[in-house]
Amino acid sequence: MPKSSAVKAQNDQTETLDVETPGFVFRPIHYLGSKLRVLPSIGQAIDRVDPSGGPVCDLFSGSATVSRYLSRSRRVLAVDIQEYARVLADAVLNGAPAYMAKNFDASVVQAGHSEALRQAVAPLVSVEDEFATRALRGDIEPLCELLDLGNLASLENAPLPVSSGLSGAVRETLRRIEALGLRGEETVCIRHFGGQYFSYAQAAELDALAAMAHKTRSSVALAATLSTASQLVNSIGKQFAQPIRPRDKFGAPKRHVVKKIVSERALSARSIFMRYLWHYEGLATTRRDHVAMRADFREALANPAIRPSVVYADPPYTRDHYSRFYHSLETIALGDEPSITKSNLGGGGVKSRGGYRAGRHQSPFCIKSEAPRAFSSLFAGVADLGVPLVLSYSGFDPSMEARPRVMALDAVIGLAERYFREVQVEQLTDLDHIKLNSSSMNKAAKGTTEVLLLCR
Ligand SMILES: C[S@@+](CC[C@H](N)C(=O)[O-])C[C@H]1O[C@@H](n2cnc3c(N)ncnc32)[C@H](O)[C@@H]1O
Repeated sequence: MPKSSAVKAQNDQTETLDVETPGFVFRPIHYLGSKLRVLPSIGQAIDRVDPSGGPVCDLFSGSATVSRYLSRSRRVLAVDIQEYARVLADAVLNGAPAYMAKNFDASVVQAGHSEALRQAVAPLVSVEDEFATRALRGDIEPLCELLDLGNLASLENAPLPVSSGLSGAVRETLRRIEALGLRGEETVCIRHFGGQYFSYAQAAELDALAAMAHKTRSSVALAATLSTASQLVNSIGKQFAQPIRPRDKFGAPKRHVVKKIVSERALSARSIFMRYLWHYEGLATTRRDHVAMRADFREALANPAIRPSVVYADPPYTRDHYSRFYHSLETIALGDEPSITKSNLGGGGVKSRGGYRAGRHQSPFCIKSEAPRAFSSLFAGVADLGVPLVLSYSGFDPSMEARPRVMALDAVIGLAERYFREVQVEQLTDLDHIKLNSSSMNKAAKGTTEVLLLCR
């Protein structure tokens, strides 16, 4: 294992990439329910139920933080239903070829496509720059209007209820995209996420970076693009469920939010991307034959690409679908142009403010009527493989504001006991885990703690 190192990558301007890296600890994206704090406890529990050191399957790999940590001593099969999760896992597990960052930087600059994107979005970039300057001088109304505008993809054939400066720039940008022959999937960040989640300049840069990453078929370049999008997004909690609202409920602009927005939107996506790329390139790897699969957990258990000697599972536990929080990352990873869902407001004819992709994954673990069957399939699938299981079950997650769990802890334990001889429950703390006595079990059941189920 390499020596611990701490990397603080400083952007040209003020932004700092928060990617402290002692050993195999790395956070590729900002992520709800991150297991960053409890990685050693998870690693120890896995080693206890399976001292063989054989391959581990991380069945709901998400941000790939756990997969990466486990890869320090085991071969890993990372599984998740989302493509962005597969890309992140492949990148952090198998690493980058040498000199990748250096070569990539030169190619992005040379790509003609980047220039076309810049030209297309120039009218909106110039209006946004002017509005940002005015906002910093105290006139924040025009910037609020830009943030409230919604995504361009929803405005293509709609009348624009906004100031003439802004609507002229929208029309001209859409005209240029067409005139330059830029396809839908090539401008998806500009048209689906620009203005709301990123500045238009950042969105054009993200489109260019994603296109290069797809062209080179590089998981590392695509993962660095996802990390950049996660770092730059203007939202509370750095997720994509709700664009930031610049006004309070009475319609008054929130001045402190506006100031923060202006400074975040001035950051260069390309410069943050390059910092991430260097960082990915520097990640230590013990081997390069880890496997990342995009699959439903049932399919992966029935046909695992590597036969595991132990399974770690961290399924969702609240009604909130992860696909809603990270839909933009999924679109960037897939490189497609999805249709945007309709909102319930306005008789169902209005496109959703968050710009959610249609058909995004609905997890059975987040649906009350389906969760018991999903847990049974999970336990049965692991038991059929004849290997032990370590299951994370989270009671309380401050970032999710203690959303209630879809299934109670004791019901999950009861199901596990039908498939395994022994089910041991441990409470997770930041540093270590402790066996639960009946009063702390009670506390866990009330949703104030995080537990591991060790099933053998
Ligand atoms: C709690 S998160 C996992 C977090 C992860 N352990 C980490 O540290 O980043 C749950 C994950 O389950 C995935 N998921 C939900 N339903 C799934 C299914 N049916 N099959 C596979 N993955 C699924 C979601 O996409 C999400 O990434």
